[in-house]
This record gives sequence, structure tokens and C-alpha cells, in this order.
Amino acid sequence: MTSHLKKVELHCHLEGAASPTLTWAQARKYNIDISPYLADGAYVWHDFASFLQCYDKVSEVYKTEEDYALLTETYLEELAAVGTIYSELIVSPDHGKRIGLGADAYIEGVCEGIRRAKAKSGIEARLIVTGERHFGPESVIGAAEYAAKAKNPLITGFNLAGEERMGRVADYARAFDIARHAGLGLTIHAGEVCGAFSVAEALDVVRPSRIGHGVRAIEDMNLVRRIADLGTVLEVCPGSNIALNVFPDFASHPLPRLKEAGVRVTISSDDPPFFHTSLKREYELAADAFGFSDAAIDEMTRTGIEAAFVDEPTRQAIF
Ligand code: HPA
Ligand code: ZN
Repeated sequence: MTSHLKKVELHCHLEGAASPTLTWAQARKYNIDISPYLADGAYVWHDFASFLQCYDKVSEVYKTEEDYALLTETYLEELAAVGTIYSELIVSPDHGKRIGLGADAYIEGVCEGIRRAKAKSGIEARLIVTGERHFGPESVIGAAEYAAKAKNPLITGFNLAGEERMGRVADYARAFDIARHAGLGLTIHAGEVCGAFSVAEALDVVRPSRIGHGVRAIEDMNLVRRIADLGTVLEVCPGSNIALNVFPDFASHPLPRLKEAGVRVTISSDDPPFFHTSLKREYELAADAFGFSDAAIDEMTRTGIEAAFVDEPTRQAIF
């Protein structure tokens, strides 16, 4: 039973949180045939590459500022209903551009959703602008420049997501320099699809305070010790890892071993309905599949608040 515990989520892709019901309604509204990607109430994909493709197609049925406000408000209210006090959403202004809405209107819609959810339930949320590796270094630099220039108080971080097997981290170093210079918090997807080397590369090149996933660091115990010594926080998404077959089952998932080794870990849902999960389920799994006590789960939540990309007064207020 984890329903009584306060919850924090640092790693969730906004469009990845779109419920199949809402996506189906949106597709009907715009007369888009989404059936190759959404059937019998579930998203259709079979590996990481087809997941990314499905994600991009689903994202295309959200078209207007109001669509993004509704998507954001709906997800944040779902989180608030299960005791979540703080959420960071990974957003892609480049996606707003690609669908013809424009980056500013896309972000404004999301911010309106955050304001509505906060007014209803008090949940705090911030935005992490992401570049997607499979759209290439120029697009990722564009995302960093957008985040740096936006001067939007709700945009507090920068991330690199997408196809981890494309290019090396060094190809994206300039984008992270731009984001760092603008004072944004830095996190990067690594050690999910690729092995321990990708985590080492991320630490060497980006020096982030957090890593998205990072779980395959377990393949190199020297690297695990380095992560623990640096205090780098891993945004661990167990349900996502099992759905994508990064590990075959929860028994072989390294979350307990990483925590035992002194690595600072938090738990998140990544793209919840795509991976048949939710933040509520991830907390339940922490107790039921991994055997963590309430105190150990609370410690991970506290780590999440400590590692949040948020101003100090807000951090103190939500603690
Ligand atoms: N991983 C990597 N890239 C992504 C994801 C994800 O879960 N969702 C959207 N882009
Ligand atoms: Zn992710």
C-alpha cells in the first residue's frame, strides 16, 4: 500500500502521458486515422524504434494551444489525485513547430494546463525542454536556444531524449553548453537502450546533475561507484524498462542494487500509458516488486525534491 505516500515525478514525457481515451477523441476530432498506433485502447509498438514512431504519431493528434492545455491539466490532475505534490514534464517546443502550431503557442498551452491544475489541486509543475537525438544536433541546439531565450519561469531544465543509438553525446555538447549557460538544470537520457559507456559519456561530456534512466550503469561497478561519489541522481523508470525489455523482469532490475551501492535514485513513469504503467503503479512496484519499505520510498521521493529543477522557496514549500 503506497497510496498514502506523497509522490514526486521528475521524468515524464508530456505526450507520452496522453491517455488512449483522450488520444482517440483527439484523432476523431481531427479526422486522423490513428488505428495503426492505437488499437483496443492500447498504443501499438513492438520495440524502442517503433515506440518512438508511435509516440510521434500520437503527438500529432494534439494540435492547438487548448489541446496542450487539456493534455497537461488532465495528466497533472491524475497525478494530484494519487498524492503527487511535484511534477516535471519533458516537453518539445520543436514538436510544436513541426505540427505548425509554433513553439510559443505549444509552451503557452502547456503552461495554461499547469496553472489550471495548480489552481484545482495545488500541484506544482515545471518544464524540461528536450531535444530528440533522432532529429539531429541542429534541432537539439534549436531546442536549447529556445529554452535559453524563453525566460519562462516554468522552463527550468534541459534534456536529451530520443534514439539513444544515434550519434555520440559529444555531438550534442554545444546544446548542453547553451542550456548550462542559461542556468537551466541538466539531465540526459543514457544507459537505457545503450550500455554503461553511454552513462560514462554523459557524465564526461555534460556533467549533469541527473541522468534519465542510467540503469545500465550496473554493467560496470566502477561506474556505479563514480555515480554514487558524484551524487548524480538517476531518474529510474522500472515499468518502462521492463516494457522495453531493457531487463527481462523486476527480479533482475538493478534499482535495489543501485540504491544499495549509494546511488541517489528516484522513480518515475516515463511514458505511462505506452508502458502500461502510471506513477501510482511505479510506487506500488517499489513496495511490492522490490520490497522497499515506506521509509525507503519516502527517501527516494525526498531525493526527487532535492534534485528538482526548481527555485529554493518552492522547494522548501513543497518539502
Ligand atoms: N525515451 C527516449 N526518448 C523519448 C521517450 C522515451 O521514453 N519518449 C519520448 N521520447
Ligand atoms: Zn524518457
